[in-house]
Amino acid sequence: MYLQPIKIGSLHINGNIFSAPMAGYTDCVTRHIFCNNGAFLAYTEMISSEALVRNNSRTLSMLKRFDGEKILAVQLYGSKPEILGRAALIAAESGADLIDLNAGCPVRKVTQKGGGAALGRDVRKLGLAIRAMVKAGLPVTVKIRSGWDETEQNWREAVQAVVQEGASAIGFHPRTCRQGYGGKADWKALGELSAAAPVPVIGSGDLDSPSAVLKMLKKTSCSGVMIARGAIGYPEIFSRTCSLLNEGTPEIPPTPEDRLRSAKNHLLMAAETFGENSAARNMKKLLAAYVRGWPSASKLRNDLMKTTNLSAQLTLLDGFIQD
Ligand SMILES: Cc1cc2nc3c(=O)[nH]c(=O)nc-3n(C[C@H](O)[C@H](O)[C@H](O)COP(=O)(O)O)c2cc1C
Repeated sequence: MYLQPIKIGSLHINGNIFSAPMAGYTDCVTRHIFCNNGAFLAYTEMISSEALVRNNSRTLSMLKRFDGEKILAVQLYGSKPEILGRAALIAAESGADLIDLNAGCPVRKVTQKGGGAALGRDVRKLGLAIRAMVKAGLPVTVKIRSGWDETEQNWREAVQAVVQEGASAIGFHPRTCRQGYGGKADWKALGELSAAAPVPVIGSGDLDSPSAVLKMLKKTSCSGVMIARGAIGYPEIFSRTCSLLNEGTPEIPPTPEDRLRSAKNHLLMAAETFGENSAARNMKKLLAAYVRGWPSASKLRNDLMKTTNLSAQLTLLDGFIQD
């Protein structure tokens, strides 16, 4: 009943459990792992519209689809409607199926230039950005926060503007920009939006377990959810959420052995896709997220942080994995 197909614009998606965009995390390997574990759609990291139109090769590589990725959902950020429109076209031409606009990022480097939550604050410009982006011919969605700060909660106006300009769904993380990732997400606001919005609403915020997902779907009647921090180091959260929603199976927490095997699998996939050196460097924060939750985990985590190459990381993980 709570796990359902969802339609976003012209896209029919088999289920309403997504993985959220996360800069520094949701590259094509992580998305592959999330989708293998049951996410029905996995957003890319936020991608700079300015860098895309400048033809920056590193940025263009972020549009890479993993082998078998059914829906490539590209999130763009920026502040200029015209540039965002051109970037949406580049993403469409490179094979994207859906474009999401980041109107909620609280990072200063982004908001100072008028992007992320600063764009969400400027409702007129936000509408113009959507108007420019829908011209690329793909479903366009927007991810917003509840507002800039406690005194400036403009999500109702923001939603009205983007829907009017053709947005096909709203991702709603009901924290203010000022809140960052602290405090609690305002699920009441999410419920209010879900009841009123003429397009699907995908809820975000505090989804740290399958039961939290069920609770959000029940309490807010949102059309779907996107799991963020809860999936870092725990990709099985997607399959366990689907089992809970479908069959009522209570969550079976992963054993240390499960976590270590998942970490090793992720590391090997990253090495194959990005090369050994890059994987060894960039995977450390992810390895730290996998290796947690049992008494001797902190020692292994510290040892992993000191490694400088892939083989040392694999040796450490293998030392704890039973054959
Ligand atoms: C490390 C990290 C990176 C994030 N990057 C993005 C991003 O690129 N685009 C975006 O819209 N939201 C981003 N977010 C916000 C998440 O998508 C999500 O809305 C937020 O973490 C709330 O969900 P949670 O409380 O379940 O983690 C990021 C969050 C984290 C923790």
